[in-house]
Parts: sequence; C-alpha cells; structure tokens
Amino acid sequence: MQHSQNQYSIHSMELGPMENFIYLIHDHASNTAAIVDPAWEVNEMLDYADARDIKITDILLTHSHHDHINGLQQTLEHSDAKVHLLKPEAKFWGANLSKPVLHHGAEQINIGDSQINILHTPGHTPGSACYQIGNDLIAGDTLFVFGCGRCDLAGGDPEEMFQTLKKLKTGLSPSTMVHPGHNYAPQSPTSSMETQCQGNPFLHFDVAEDFVKYRMHVHDRIRHTPYDAVSEEEARNSIK
Ligand SMILES: [Fe+2]
Repeated sequence: MQHSQNQYSIHSMELGPMENFIYLIHDHASNTAAIVDPAWEVNEMLDYADARDIKITDILLTHSHHDHINGLQQTLEHSDAKVHLLKPEAKFWGANLSKPVLHHGAEQINIGDSQINILHTPGHTPGSACYQIGNDLIAGDTLFVFGCGRCDLAGGDPEEMFQTLKKLKTGLSPSTMVHPGHNYAPQSPTSSMETQCQGNPFLHFDVAEDFVKYRMHVHDRIRHTPYDAVSEEEARNSIK
C-alpha cells in the first residue's frame, strides 16, 4: 500500500503472523529511504527498494519487541544503514547493537530533504517512539486504529501511556494520518487523528485512573480485533 505526498511516500507491507506493518519512508528527490521496524519477511521490502534503486540509509525502530525487529540483522546485511532508537529503549532491550544512533526524543533526522521528527512515546515500552513526517505519524505499538498498545508486558506503564496519548491528542493536527504497528483496523489500515479522537476509546478518558482501569482490567475482556470505533459514552460506561 502506498501513501504519497509530493516529497516523500510511505509504502507499507503487512508481514508475519501478527499483522505487523513494515514501512518504507521514501524521499523521492534523493531516492533514499528509511525502513521502519524491519521484521518477518523483510526481504519483500528490501526487494521492493532494490527493484526501484532506492537506497536504504536509515533503520527506525519504534520499539524492541521481537515482532518489530526480527528482520534487523537481515536488513543490516543488505544495507549499510544507521539504526535509530531511543536511549531508554536501548537500555530496556539490552541488545548489543553495533553503533546505534540513540535519541532522547524531539530530535530530527533527514532522509534526503524529508525531515522526520522523533517523538518519545512511552507506555507500551519505556523507550517507544513515534516518527512524524509531514502529516504522517508512524505510531508503532503506541497507537492503533481504534486501539493502543498493551501496557501489561515488561516495561509497560499504563499511566505513561495515558500521558503519551494525551500529548498526541492535543499536539497533533486532526488531519495527521496514523500508520500503526499492527493491522487491527476494521477497514482502512490507516486513519486520521480526527477519526481517532472520535472513535478510539483510549482517547476518550480525561482522568488517568479511568484510563488505567480500562487499559488494564476492562479492554481485553470486551474487545477483540478488528477493533471497531467506540463512542465516548460507551467507553465511559464500560468502566462503571
Ligand atoms: Fe510491541
């Protein structure tokens, strides 16, 4: 699937048994690209780039879970690319990466002339990142279409996730397109922030305590993928 702006395009592939999305952010003028979360049959994305003479200069990791990084080695063998991740994620992961580029969040990296903003979005893991380019957000397991990443695994923290989602809700323009780390959507695999603010139950809670209760104790009992939209009233009623 292709999502195109004038300067860059985002090509996505759904790969592996867990409905993971692998993304290629392609800067047209320089014909260079960043691959996000190389995993599963990553060779399909590498072949896609090769067939178009696109040089992969950078690898962006949203977080270190196995289903997002199990094609990292293969990608490094294919391309002499830099690996970007957040410092707290590198610490949490503990992997022995050779020369990673560690970020704190709020930095920018360039793919050709296309600028990517790195956002630190903890909650699913301590160093989870979202990557923002133009009007697009590569969201990893922070934000799904009508869902959000679980917070009950090692390194997860629902209160941090609440703060992260609040910042995304208030800080991103309504027209921002969300490109999630998994395809849990009922129809279109991407969605605008405006649609998410209307129908993503995790964006409906104003109080941390309510969010934590919903995320940790209610959600997984009452909802299953693919996730449909949930009204604010339904979300609030479900924690009563
Ligand atoms: Fe994950």
